[in-house]
Amino acid sequence: MRYKHHAFTCVNSSNCAQQGSEKVHSYLKSQIKKLGMKHEIRANKSGCLDACDHAPVTVIYPEGIWYRITSEDEADRVIHEHLIGGKPVESLMVRELNPNYAFTGN
Ligand code: FES
Repeated sequence: MRYKHHAFTCVNSSNCAQQGSEKVHSYLKSQIKKLGMKHEIRANKSGCLDACDHAPVTVIYPEGIWYRITSEDEADRVIHEHLIGGKPVESLMVRELNPNYAFTGN
């Protein structure tokens, strides 16, 4: 596997893009590059991920963790705590989209 993580952010115009997902994607991509991690983490745009009710959505693979990221601060938390630190950011995860995740409340 070439990349350790993929971060797919939906930029579909019907919902996520209206909620600012293009900016979220751009910020994730620029920060990953700035941190020198573009060969380990790939930020991709995606079409509708069928999670429109939770827009704007970003899903991280290979874990399959779904987030609702709405700001640069939140994007930074996902980058530093999850993508680099290995610990998902529970407070930003969409519970309904992560039914098998064992939330600890931390
Ligand atoms: S528009 Fe983003 S998940 Fe459907």
